[in-house]
Order: sequence, then structure tokens, then C-alpha cells
Amino acid sequence: MITYNKTDRSFHLSNGKISYILYIMKNGHAGHRYFGRAVRNRGDYSHMTEMVPRPLTAFPIEGDALFSPEQQRQEYPCAGAADFRMPAFSIRQKNGSAISDFRYADHRIFSGKPKLSGLPASYCEEESEAETLELHLHDAVTDMDLFLLYTIFRDHACVARSARFENHGEPVFLDAAMSMSVDFYDSDYELMQFSGAWSRERHVITSPLRAGMQSVGSVRGHSSHNHNPFIILKRPHTTESTGECFGFQFVYSGNFLSSAEVDAFGVTRIRQGIHPQGFCWHLGTGESFQTPESLLFCSGDGLNGLSQEIHTLLRTRMVRGCWRDRERPILMNSWEATTFDFDEEKILSFARIAKDCGIELFVLDDGWFGKRNNDRAGLGDWQPNLEKLPHGIAGLAKSITEMGMAFGLWFEPEMVNKDSDLYRAHPDWILQTPERAASHGRSQYVLDFSRPEVVDCIYEQMEKVLSEADISYVKWDMNRSMTEVYSAALPPERQGEVFHRYILGVYDLYERLIRKFPHILFESCSSGGGRFDAGMLYYAPQCWASDTTDAHERVLVQYGTSYGYPIVSTGAHTAAVPNWLTNRRTPLHTRTNVAYFGAFGYELNLCWLPEEEIEQIKAQIAFYKQHRRLFQFGTFYRLQSPFDTNEAVWMAVSEDRRQAVCGVYKTLNRPLSPFRKVQLAGLDESLCYRITGGDNEYHAYGDELMHFGLLISDCSAGERMEGQRVSSDFDSQLIFLEAETEVQ
Ligand code: DGJ
Repeated sequence: MITYNKTDRSFHLSNGKISYILYIMKNGHAGHRYFGRAVRNRGDYSHMTEMVPRPLTAFPIEGDALFSPEQQRQEYPCAGAADFRMPAFSIRQKNGSAISDFRYADHRIFSGKPKLSGLPASYCEEESEAETLELHLHDAVTDMDLFLLYTIFRDHACVARSARFENHGEPVFLDAAMSMSVDFYDSDYELMQFSGAWSRERHVITSPLRAGMQSVGSVRGHSSHNHNPFIILKRPHTTESTGECFGFQFVYSGNFLSSAEVDAFGVTRIRQGIHPQGFCWHLGTGESFQTPESLLFCSGDGLNGLSQEIHTLLRTRMVRGCWRDRERPILMNSWEATTFDFDEEKILSFARIAKDCGIELFVLDDGWFGKRNNDRAGLGDWQPNLEKLPHGIAGLAKSITEMGMAFGLWFEPEMVNKDSDLYRAHPDWILQTPERAASHGRSQYVLDFSRPEVVDCIYEQMEKVLSEADISYVKWDMNRSMTEVYSAALPPERQGEVFHRYILGVYDLYERLIRKFPHILFESCSSGGGRFDAGMLYYAPQCWASDTTDAHERVLVQYGTSYGYPIVSTGAHTAAVPNWLTNRRTPLHTRTNVAYFGAFGYELNLCWLPEEEIEQIKAQIAFYKQHRRLFQFGTFYRLQSPFDTNEAVWMAVSEDRRQAVCGVYKTLNRPLSPFRKVQLAGLDESLCYRITGGDNEYHAYGDELMHFGLLISDCSAGERMEGQRVSSDFDSQLIFLEAETEVQ
């Protein structure tokens, strides 16, 4: 998969789907030639690099007025030396200089993919699945080594990149260390970002690239609701089903920067890595620094093709453990039903109805520990509140498992309330800057997870609860961004390391819990989707996508999320109406039709529902149990965007293409609305499908459904003819397709 061409000192990484070509430039630095759909292997790629002079630049080689780093496409550009674009890294040295000159030393090509110690990363199960290039560069003045790592997967349209610095000289400060940088030849692209806010995460924003810098990032300590580390670069004409596009997935859960810079000559530099703001790593003699990983994807089959590549890789080579390939249980979460107001009796009566409806996993959310009767107390004290739960968590878990459901529990391990025994014992364990006030958020403070003793203390508390009770699911929440970031345990020159050390602490706690309790299914959460990133998926196979449980808002969140993240990893629940956040009423079938496309569950008080809705829920659960694999693991296609139209349409297709399910979600009902049909995707042209779930039941062939389409018009009250179903605002249809064995 990786070839070294001596003639032009280039490396070609290819797997038949994609090619990535880099080379050693005249100055010994790593240069970029190509990243895109696969090209043939040949001995020389020098024709891919132009040497066309442009005046008013600078030249690093004496007597050579042609070779200018500014006019070359580079792999991991350095700061300040004749490339005036943003660098991939910056090293501040003892004499105050930040200039470096990393030149080719040697390289290794080997099978498999090395682990990144303490960090989440994609992996292979067998060495033959991937090949890695480790490009070794050296800076003579600082006596530092730089290792650029590139792994290409045999079966995925993806190259994984990261960088490692090793310092053999005087101590230095790493002021920036991105995970990757890649220079595309032109700028005829659009940038897709997935941005929003709490409860409206990952909305799709597409903008044409323009000259200069455009970026998204987070300096909040978590990847955040506001922007997602994942970005897409697409050609303007690229659609969901055709055209070229690139995806950049940063495998990290803390501060990040994903940027696109268009220079004067139309070259686009994409960079991704830890945000340099708030980052400064002191690299002592003999120390090394490993950046997190970036995954670079390419597709020639449109955005659906790109997402499918990303889904498959994240689902099978990022998520780990026994839950990776397993269908996820249908859960009932207590939060929106009870918030903090519950006791054992209330939970058990609620659980009994849940069981009767067919729920498989009962999750007790916030409020079960310490003095947690509101959000002002208790975080940090992970012992059951015996006033609410006289038989403790172990007793409650026993009663619930005896009913025939699994039991799950909520934690927020990284936080503390001032009103807690933990804070009273260790007030210096929070992130806070000396002599300055510490800002609060949701009445809580952030524990200093850069300190191993803090992580140890939380581990011991959690380990005790999880060992004593029969718990098979944990929801790990994180409900505020970080402020006044400073660690009482680190010297002044290491304060720029706290953000990153904090995340390493989070990963360490996850890793220890996963090792000790490999059977537990973890669901990550950060006030909904504030930490929905590829890094988290390495530890928690699913993530609560958003605190918005309003069906219409959820369509937007889940549609946006689907660009970069697998459907099975997207926690989605049916909740009560009017919705607590939007005060909107949406039909029960729509709420469930949306939540079906995810790690599905309910989050409402069944005790308050009329009998007919309980019966409806029983039927919904029975239906989902029958088709769960299709919803969770089917190949997902976006067909119509709710960001552009009054309606969202998406579908999932089984691996053998004999089954498919299509969700159609309307926003507002319109009088005399246009007739509507949607062209389906991913079906077998020659198969005849029986179509159920819409207003009519009929048969149609795959070619008809994909080329003619599926009719989805509906009727408002004023237009109805006798016998027709009347549609309403926020109505939805779930259309099921099953191939007939007998051709009709
Ligand atoms: C925020 C989460 O997103 C909710 O689902 C819930 O777990 C609350 N925290 C509990 O405090």
C-alpha cells in the first residue's frame, strides 16, 4: 500500500480507493503532491509539482531564486522561514527564536498501525489491514526529531495522520503542534462546518472558500456544542450522490482548531489539531510530545459516499469492545421524567411500566448520589443517597434486573459542587487561577483531571459503585466549559499543558473503567452533544446527541450529525410533549420515527401517558426490535435536507440491499402543497420491493424507486378526500421496503 520512489524521493500511499503522495523537497522538508481519488503507481511524480516563479517572496537556498516554501505545497510547514501562511507547528527556543528547519533523516514503512499512547486512535485488528509510513525529520540546531506518521487502511478511503516531537537538545516550548496540514492545489471548494449551540448542535453551514483564513475551533476545554472538530471540503457541484469531497475527523475531545487558509495563489491549506490558544507544551531534554490523530477521508461519490466511509471506519476501527458490533438496547432514561425528584418507589413503578412496554435497559440519570436534590450540591460524592434509595444502587439495580431489564447509571465524573464532601476535603482540586475568582457554571466547578490523584479518587469511587451493583450501562456526562484554567500541581512553565493533560486524564479514567468493566456500554454526553467527537467514540460507543428532544429540532441535529458520525453512535430518545425546551407539540409517531435512527430509547414519564399512547409505544418498540439492525447498522443515505427544504428525508439500507427504511419528516403543513417524490438510493435495481408504512401498500422495483422515486405527497385537512389520512405540522412517514422473493 505504500511505495517509496527513489527517483523523486516520493511516497505513494494508495489502496485503490485513494492516493496520498508526499515527497522530500529540495530543502529536505516534507512536501505535498496529491491527496484524492486513487492514481496509478509510477516511479516519478515530479510532474505534479510546479516550479513557476512568483516574485516578491523569499528563498531559503543561497543562489536559488526559484525554490520558495511559500510557493510549494507542504506537509507539515514550519513557522517563519519563507512560508508566510499559518504553520503546522511552532517551537520557541531558549534564545527566543521560533524558527526551525526539519530535514529528512530517514523513514520506515511497516505493516499495521502503532498505538498512540494515552490517546484515542483508529486501529487495525490484523497487521495486514494497514500500512504505516514514519517519516523522520531532524532539526540540527535544536537537536530535535520530528516523526510524521501516515497510516493507510486497506479497506477504507482514509489516511490517519499525527506527529511526534522528540527533544534531545535544550528544553523548548511547543507553542503549536497541529496533527496535520495539507495543501490542496486550488480553492474551488466549499467548506462544510457543523456548528450551533447547546440543544442545536451540528447544524450544517456551507460556505464557499474565500481568500484568507476561515476556521472553526473550541477553547472551551471540550470539543463543544458551538463547533464540531469535523469539517468537509467539497467541490461546489458536489451533491449527496455525486462529486468529490474530503472529510477531516479530529480524534480528540478537547480544544481544537480546524482551519482552511486560501493563499494568494489559490492554494488551500487545511490544518487540524489542538488549538494553539491556551496550548504551550514545555518539552524538556529527553521528552517527547505526540499529537492526537487526524483522519483524512476522500470520496468521489458525493457526500453520502464520504459519510459512509467515515461511518464504517469509526464504527469498526474506532469504537472498541464487546458493544462495537452489537445491537444497542432500547433504553428508558429517567431524566426528563423525574429530574431530581424521585425515590425508589417512584423509580420502580416507572420501571415496571417500562418493562411492560418492552424496554430493555432502565437508566437512572442524575440525582441518585450525595446530597443531589438539585444541581447545587452533590457532584463529587459518588455514594448513593440512601434517603431516596434506601437499598442503595445495588438494591435498585437488583430489583430492576429481576424485572428482566438491564440497569444503567449516570455519572458526571469530572465535576464537583462546592456543597460536597469532596470539595470540602480538597478545595484545591478544582481548576482555578491563584488569587482570582473561579467562574461557576451550573453551580459546579471543574475537577483538575491533569492531576493523577484526582483521577484516582474518582476512579475509586466509581469502581466501588460499579462493582457492588449489576450495572451494564454508564452515561458519562460533562456539563460545563472550563474557565480560569490553571493547575495547583504544575509549575508556571507547564500551565500551558493543563487543557491537554486534563483530556489525557479523562481518557485515562475511561480506559481504566473499560478495562475493569469491559461489559459496560458507555454513552458519552456533555449537556447533550457538547463532546460528540471521534475521540470519545474510542471509549464510549454512543453519545447523547443533544438535549433537544423536540422532534423537529432533533431532525436538524441528527441530519447534521450523520455527516461525520455513525447512526448507531447517535443517542436518540422519544420524549414528552409539549417539549420542555421549545414548548412544541409534535406527534408521538414523529418523535419516534426520528429517534429510531439512532441508539434508540425513551425519555418521558410513562405513568402520565394515556392508555392509547402506551399501546402505541408497545407497538413502536416491537417494530424496532424486529428491524433494529437495519436502523442502527444499515447504510445511511441523506436524501433531502431540512436545512434547505420544508422536509427531511433519509434512509437506511441493509447490507444485502433486501431491506430498507425511509424516514420522511415534514416541518409545516402547507395548503395546496406541491406534489412530492424522492429518489431513493442504495437499492438493488433488479429487486422488487414491497412498500409499506406510507398511505398505500404497493410493489416497485429498485430501478423505479431510485430513478423515478417514491411518492410522498400528503394531504392537509382542507384538501382531503374521503378515506385519506390528514397530515399535520411535524407529521412524518416511515416507509419500509422489503424485497420480494417472488418477482411481482
Ligand atoms: C445534561 C444531560 O445532557 C441530560 O441528558 C441529563 O443527563 C442532565 N445533564 C442531568 O443533569
